[in-house]
Amino acid sequence: MRLMVKELLLLDEPKKDVIIKGWIRTRRDSKGFSFLEINDGSCLSNVQAVLSWDKVSRQELSRLTTGASVAIFGDVVASPGKKQKWELQVEKLEILGDAPADKYPLQKKRHSDEFLRTIAHLRPRTNKYGAITRIRSELAFGIHKFFHQKGFCYIHTPILTGSDCEGAGETFTVTALDLSNIQGRIDFSKDFFKKRAYLTVSGQLEAEIMACALGSVYTFGPTFRAEKSDTPRHAAEFWMVEPEIAFADLNDVMELAEEMVKWLVNYVLEHCAEDLSLFVRFVDKNLTQRLELTLKEPFAKISYQEALEVLKKSGRKFEYPVEYGRDLQTEHERYLTEAHFQKPVFVYNYPKEIKAFYMRLNDDQKTVAAMDLLVPGVGELIGGSQREERLEILEKRMEECGLDKKDYWWYLDLRRFGTVVHSGFGLGFDRLMMYLTGVSNVRDVLSFYRCLGSMEF
Ligand code: 4AD
Ligand code: MG
Repeated sequence: MRLMVKELLLLDEPKKDVIIKGWIRTRRDSKGFSFLEINDGSCLSNVQAVLSWDKVSRQELSRLTTGASVAIFGDVVASPGKKQKWELQVEKLEILGDAPADKYPLQKKRHSDEFLRTIAHLRPRTNKYGAITRIRSELAFGIHKFFHQKGFCYIHTPILTGSDCEGAGETFTVTALDLSNIQGRIDFSKDFFKKRAYLTVSGQLEAEIMACALGSVYTFGPTFRAEKSDTPRHAAEFWMVEPEIAFADLNDVMELAEEMVKWLVNYVLEHCAEDLSLFVRFVDKNLTQRLELTLKEPFAKISYQEALEVLKKSGRKFEYPVEYGRDLQTEHERYLTEAHFQKPVFVYNYPKEIKAFYMRLNDDQKTVAAMDLLVPGVGELIGGSQREERLEILEKRMEECGLDKKDYWWYLDLRRFGTVVHSGFGLGFDRLMMYLTGVSNVRDVLSFYRCLGSMEF
């Protein structure tokens, strides 16, 4: 019977006649025996297979190198070694695929993240990238679990869209036109949809449609931005979790955001303990402390105006000026969350000029009911707002933002018919992965990263 390594390591008693299939991580030889560390991706740990040299030919023995794939038949017995409870006594071994030591790029030594990015198709076979992949899987499942138990409806918002939700002009255009054959201006009315189409930058506008019918909904999927930011935190394709709730105001969604982040930190600590231990050892010594603090303390909350005052009083020399009406830069965000509060902090009520058209205008007529959640080590993790539910004010804002109301007739209809106060936010899934693991580059938490200037496959 084939066992996963994870199952084998959890056995309560020895077991005869099992099959393990996996890849050799390392091999050590001693007195007529080879000790093979086998990993099959089911968990961080390997199982040690003990192979007596009389079970294989000399030629086979020479092919048992790091990276080779094998099927091993044998018995699980108590290990005399201190490191592991069980080991596998090899009866028969089949080499499934060779990995010649002079050519296979992943040898025993530790490789740099930069090098591993150049072999992104092989890096999942390392401890670190295997662990990241398993944590991603658990975290995605945890997100669904969180919303499911709260009674949210999981909706599927489109990837192909006719509108730029954020209005920031950072969209990728999708076309079925033969671009190699076009001269002059592109006429999108001749394109597949008879108009210009984009990859979505956010599922929010469609989530609003659903919230204004089903109450509490969330969408969770890939989003795309042609943002020319070559930073460790920006990817061109990333995953976003976007809850949207009818009859909820800005405070309600800040509360939900805090509850959600804490719930997910707990979930991962509980379900990914072994994988997380790798990051504590090799990536971020303060990880455990940071996550525990996230759980223990209430998040800080300050208005944009108050944030400016904190920054001005800091005595720090920032590269970008701290001025009303300018967006907070990474250096400002990091000062607030890492130096000043030393924990996650919500900044809310931003000047309307630096935020998207759909955010609700506050009574001061200057700010909008927006919030960002900033976290240590990452910066902005969440962006959200209360949505403008008043038709006339929304129309005015759209004009100010240079948007054509005709393109948004359906969005305006939500305000024409049975309008309600509603709010939501977007949480960057990959940034949450960075926060949970201490990995400092988004390229290393994405299995297949697409960033400015790089897309290998
Ligand atoms: O703040 P953003 O742009 O908000 C929205 O898109 C809203 N429509 C969401 C909503 O209210 N439903 O993006 C939300 C989050 C950011 O806080 C950040 O964590 C992540 O998405 N994000 C990125 N992550 C990786 N690479 C990028 N280029 C990202 N841009 C945004
Ligand atoms: Mg934002």
